[in-house]
Amino acid sequence: MSDRIKVAVRVRSPQGNGPIVCRASSDTVSLINDDKKSFRISSPQKKAAKEFTYDYCFSPTNSIAQDQAEIYEKLIRGYVLHTLEGYNSCILAYGQTGSGKTFTMMGDQNHEGVVPRFCRELFEVFHICHQDDSNELTTEFQVKCSSFEIYNEQVIDLLSSGSQKRCKIRERADKSTFVEGLEEVDVANVDEIIECIHRGNENRTVRSTHMNQESSRSHAVFHISVYQKETDSKTGTVVECRSTCKLVDLAGSERLGSGDTKMKHEGTSINKSLSTLGRVISLLAEADRHKSPLVPYRESALTWILKENLGGNSNTCLIACVSPENYHESLSTLRYASLTKRVRTSATLNSLSHIEQMEDLKSKLRELQKMVNDKKSTNPGQHILEKRVEDIQRTNFFLEQRMAKEAQISAQVLQTAQQERDALAWITLHIIESFDWGQAESNHEICNRSSQLQKAFEEDLSFFDDAFQKYCA
Ligand SMILES: Nc1ncnc2c1ncn2[C@@H]1O[C@H](COP(=O)(O)OP(=O)(O)OP(=O)(O)O)[C@@H](O)[C@H]1O
Ligand SMILES: [Mg+2]
Repeated sequence: MSDRIKVAVRVRSPQGNGPIVCRASSDTVSLINDDKKSFRISSPQKKAAKEFTYDYCFSPTNSIAQDQAEIYEKLIRGYVLHTLEGYNSCILAYGQTGSGKTFTMMGDQNHEGVVPRFCRELFEVFHICHQDDSNELTTEFQVKCSSFEIYNEQVIDLLSSGSQKRCKIRERADKSTFVEGLEEVDVANVDEIIECIHRGNENRTVRSTHMNQESSRSHAVFHISVYQKETDSKTGTVVECRSTCKLVDLAGSERLGSGDTKMKHEGTSINKSLSTLGRVISLLAEADRHKSPLVPYRESALTWILKENLGGNSNTCLIACVSPENYHESLSTLRYASLTKRVRTSATLNSLSHIEQMEDLKSKLRELQKMVNDKKSTNPGQHILEKRVEDIQRTNFFLEQRMAKEAQISAQVLQTAQQERDALAWITLHIIESFDWGQAESNHEICNRSSQLQKAFEEDLSFFDDAFQKYCA
């Protein structure tokens, strides 16, 4: 599902809440929002007003509670459904310092923001969708969350107890990125996830600046992973699905002025990572023209973590916050938001049925076979590996036969088949990972590795022989 990043602009009046049309009296900026989709920005010094169109535009009304609810209902609610359907999502709040990003994402005691509302509905919507499940259909639902900040380019775990825990960003084989070693909390209900949100907020780096009493000095990410497993005991069908959602409150861009060295260092890091984000977005926005641009994701921790959400498998939404006290900063945010609208991501369903898992396994097996064929030579360990592949293929064949009889098998048998599949996956991976062709330079080393593999495999082979006796005899 290839789609544009959805972009909304939220304008707050300089006083916090105020008139429906946002006109900042002192500094001559006038932001006029007639039709909920566009903003016209003008100042008396500039002759022509500039107009920008977005997916949504939100101006303040006289009720903050209503404003917070409207943003959630019109813009964010759909992402709860995307997440439950098995798609990855990401919601980012961007804007100058003091423009209301943290207020939009977290809210305050009386006006909850996007993050707590999203988490509440995640559990509520899941239970609504599954309350009519029959006896045959059971759905497992597991939610884990983590919370971290990017402070001066360092990733810091906000949920770890004790001293500050710094984490590294790693890349997976499929080129997506993740933060290694984060505290992931299993949350069973709304109260537990809300508790994690609060804990993360308490540990985040915040400081008073001349623009904002409680200015965020870091980019904060609340990360949710959802795992669902639906089993139909009547037909034996199993569908597993995993999805993630990143809820990101960025630090605000700011002019570096007065302040101590620490604050200046923070400000420089914030501006640097936001300018890398800007460059990444503008390259991705031009992506159609320059087929595959070299995107500098790695140049900042922020863009490296958000790689998948900006240019890959994700449904992404940007909320650009504007506080129209300064014409140039407001214009710059509106331009940034307008550019982001041109970026396309391609969310794919992260769901695998039992049969698809088997297909996946088969393709891994083909890869392994190819590797073995490519390396056909004088290697003394060669025949052992070939034998292993044959054994795996044999087991795979039995499993396939089992799949054909799927309609007749009971839930108990199905469970055993899944264990076999997992063991088979383990062995396939084990062989691929353990046998490092690039490193194995000498025949001697190959021999050693082969005998290790043989030992590991023999243990597992007895398992498969049992399975064979049980199902195919
Ligand atoms: N729409 C709004 N209505 C009422 N008050 C608001 C609104 N937006 C922000 N505020 C208030 O304005 C102040 C600054 O907002 P906030 O901290 O959310 O800004 P920010 O964009 O996160 O800034 P920074 O980049 O410095 O972290 C806070 O006291 C917040 O409660
Ligand atoms: Mg903030």
